[in-house]
Amino acid sequence: MIIELRGVKKEYNDGKNKKISPLNDINFCVDKGDFVAITGPSGIGKTTLLNIIGCIDTVTSGQYFLNGKSIENYTEKKKAFVRNKYFGYVLQSDGLIPYRNVYDNVSVPLMFNKDVKRREYKEKIEKALTAVNMENYIHRNVNELSGGEKQRISIARAMVNDPDIILADEPTGSLDVDNKEMIVENLFNLRKNGKTVIIVTHDLDIAARFDLQYTFVPGGILKRKEN
Ligand SMILES: Nc1ncnc2c1ncn2[C@@H]1O[C@H](COP(=O)(O)OP(=O)(O)O)[C@@H](O)[C@H]1O
Ligand SMILES: [Mg+2]
Repeated sequence: MIIELRGVKKEYNDGKNKKISPLNDINFCVDKGDFVAITGPSGIGKTTLLNIIGCIDTVTSGQYFLNGKSIENYTEKKKAFVRNKYFGYVLQSDGLIPYRNVYDNVSVPLMFNKDVKRREYKEKIEKALTAVNMENYIHRNVNELSGGEKQRISIARAMVNDPDIILADEPTGSLDVDNKEMIVENLFNLRKNGKTVIIVTHDLDIAARFDLQYTFVPGGILKRKEN
C-alpha cells in the first residue's frame, strides 16, 4: 500500500469560532500503480484531501501512512523532502511562471532536489517533455502556449523529479473537449512507467475510466468503487 488514510478527520475554523469538518472519517487506500479518481460536489473537501495526501496540509485526527510509515511525527524538513521526492502536483490553473520559457518552468522542482546536479537538468527536462509530446517546445515562452499546451507543461513539471505519485486537482477543469482528452491520455501514459495517479475531477466520464473511484458523500466520508 503506497497511501493509506485511516479514520482521517480535518477540521477548520470558519472564522466565527465555529468548526467545519470537510473530512470526518476518511478511509482511503491506494496501491502502487493505481489510477484513482476522487469525485464529489464543489466545497465538499476534495482539495483538502489531496493536500493532506501530498503532505501540504495535516490531519486533525486519524492516521496517514505513506509507504507503510506514519508521517505523523515527520518534521517540516522531512515533509518538504517527501513532497519533492514522492509527489508531483498538477492543478486546474497551470501555475506556471509567466514570461519564462518551458525549460525554466519545468526545472523548478529540480532546484529543490539536492540529489540532482545542474548538468543533469537538460536530460531530465527533455525526458519529461517527451512524455507529454512537448519536447519541441523547450525554448518557447509559456505565454505563447494554449491552455492545453500549458497544462501538458505542468504535467511535465510534475514528472521531472520522477515522483511515484501524481496528484492532479481538476487538471481538465478549464479545458475544451479535445485538450481534456489529451491530458487524460497523458496521465494514462504514466501508468506504463508504474506511476500512481490520483485525480480530482467533476467529470464522471473521466472518473469512470480510472481503476478506482472514491466519491464524497455527505458527512465527510468516502464511498469506494472499483471500475
Ligand atoms: N484553509 C481553510 N480554512 C478554512 N476553511 C477551509 C480551508 N480550506 C478549505 N476550507 C473549507 O473546507 C471545505 C472544503 O474545501 P475544499 O477541500 O477546497 O473543497 P473542494 O475541493 O471539494 O471544492 C470548504 O467548506 C472550504 O471553505
Ligand atoms: Mg477543490
